[in-house]
Amino acid sequence: MLILVINGPNLNMLGKRPTDIYGSETYDDLIKKIKDYAEKDGLTVDFFQSNSEGKIIDRIQKMDYEGLVINPGAFTHYSYAIRDTLEIVNVPKVEVHLSNILAREAFREKSVTSAECDGVISGLGQYGYILALNYIKNKLENN
Ligand code: DQA
Repeated sequence: MLILVINGPNLNMLGKRPTDIYGSETYDDLIKKIKDYAEKDGLTVDFFQSNSEGKIIDRIQKMDYEGLVINPGAFTHYSYAIRDTLEIVNVPKVEVHLSNILAREAFREKSVTSAECDGVISGLGQYGYILALNYIKNKLENN
């Protein structure tokens, strides 16, 4: 199974972002954690990170994968363009947030992208990505 993990703006800066919110693990740590899990589970996972809305849209539009895990970063809260692109792509999709976006500033409470995903995992740190992969695997196996 081929799954793409997209991370939006500033997620490449993990480790340097506030550690009480995002933890001390870096983006490379995140990739390693996901790869280790994926290997055990027989999944092939590729990664794409960009700070640019257009690049994320272009990558989603290509969708040459069977499933998508996406953390749109701050675009979550206002990118109707990414929302519209997610709507077009017909594969299992999970939105992930490291932090609990419902327990932070008011502007983070709203996600404009989540309704176009199968579901959202928020506040479980890097483990959220593993749960998302597990859901997609299950969904693909049972369809
Ligand atoms: C985030 C939450 C967003 O509000 C924030 O802008 C991010 C990261 C998270 O993973 O918790 O960049 O998506």
